Amino acid sequence: ATTPAFDIVFFGGTGDLALRKLLPSLYHAHKDGVLHPDGRIHALGRKALGQDGYLALLEERVRPRLGEHADEPMWKTFLARVHFHVLDAQQPQHYATLANVLGPPSDRVVVCYLATAPSLFIPICEHLAAAGLNHSNVRVVLEKPLGHDLPSSNAINEAVGQCFTENQIYRIDHYLGKESVQNLLAVRFGNTLFEPLWRREWIDNVQITIAEELGVEERGDFYDRTGALRDMLQSHLLQLLCMVAMEPPASLTEDAVRDEKLKVLRSLKPFTPEDVLTKAVRGQYRSGAINGRPVPAYRDEPHVDPASNTETFVALQAEVSNWRWSGVPFFLRTGKRMQERVAEIVINFRRVPHTLFPMPIGLQSGNRLVIRLQPKEGVRLYFLAKQPGDAMSLQSTYLDLDFHAMFKARWSDAYERLLLDVIRGRLALFMRRDEQAQAWSWVEPILDCWSRHAIAPKMYTAGSWGPAASSGLLSRAGVAWHEEA
Ligand code: BG6
Repeated sequence: ATTPAFDIVFFGGTGDLALRKLLPSLYHAHKDGVLHPDGRIHALGRKALGQDGYLALLEERVRPRLGEHADEPMWKTFLARVHFHVLDAQQPQHYATLANVLGPPSDRVVVCYLATAPSLFIPICEHLAAAGLNHSNVRVVLEKPLGHDLPSSNAINEAVGQCFTENQIYRIDHYLGKESVQNLLAVRFGNTLFEPLWRREWIDNVQITIAEELGVEERGDFYDRTGALRDMLQSHLLQLLCMVAMEPPASLTEDAVRDEKLKVLRSLKPFTPEDVLTKAVRGQYRSGAINGRPVPAYRDEPHVDPASNTETFVALQAEVSNWRWSGVPFFLRTGKRMQERVAEIVINFRRVPHTLFPMPIGLQSGNRLVIRLQPKEGVRLYFLAKQPGDAMSLQSTYLDLDFHAMFKARWSDAYERLLLDVIRGRLALFMRRDEQAQAWSWVEPILDCWSRHAIAPKMYTAGSWGPAASSGLLSRAGVAWHEEA
């Protein structure tokens, strides 16, 4: 079904996110025929590029990203939807012009996407409201990070909440839009197979990894003030943890799902200062090589303080203190400049209570479910099988489901799904204010302890799996990080 008629307004329309993700996503939706014919895209920027200048920028930056999907007539009709306007986010009178362009309130949905620094969220929302652009058909999308810590995120939420009602606010965490994260719901709640085992009685530990080969690219300045705990763990990793650990929601409606996620966040055992020292690993990459290509140390990246203690890696052991999960460690890790780009959720089941067979050396458990989010989306279920031959010896084997081989159709990028959800008014995959505040309050003691005691990050070589302390964290619990054979 096509979307309702809409105006989508990108603040930061010439920025990286708009050019890399938002506009390509809308092109795909346009090509698939899901955008209402009367859907307009407004890109805002401070520089007077002019309409032609902006279209030339799209030609140069967006079109090459579309690969085989770029199609001349389609691209032309897509560009016909796009309008560039000059806007300085700090200038109230520019919003009056914007309000004129958008016209009086009507049935059209108006989406204001704030792909800008969080420091602009408050002024933009206030100016939008002052220009009357907060009527009930307006939705505002806030990119992460929403603030820097609990107080600053509360301040943003408070101020934005004065201008828009909660159901007009879409706090985006693009991981929730990923196909395989959605699939996690299907795996858990669409099958009878796993859910009965999805608890402390049968699960020994859970591991969630988001590893990137990328460094900080052009974002040294932002990243050096942010670090991996705020950039990735507070948002993406905790959201994945919620999806793994939550109770079955009564339905897939927005509040049913978000209530369950909130309960998980509230059940997370708070870190004491002692825990920060023993259950959290802070790392930073030194120079090394990625796929044979030498890469500089974090401290030598552009716009990074040469004495920076900002972490580019974090691993920690979390615990969900409730009946289902008590005592089951959840190991979370994320890092830049790691050996391989991989995001996956690994469920390690317990060992059999009594073994009849000689067991393979080093085997923690025969059964492991790996949900691969990227790069190759799929599910792999490990189990032990008998090796052919006379001896009754077992070997680890697996069943493999490759989503790309199984479902041949193109599927939407996370941003595409989420943009369409905003236009359609579906809030389920966006974070509610209370969820976000809870996530910040959980990471707060870790941030505090690191800064109060100036905890220096442990160095790891770019292109490795992070500091040795990361394996140490798991070996103390008698386990090891999953590595694909
Ligand atoms: C963003 C972070 O939210 O997620 C980036 O700010 C990170 O630092 C990115 O690179 C990773 O997203 P993905 O979808 O490429 O795994």
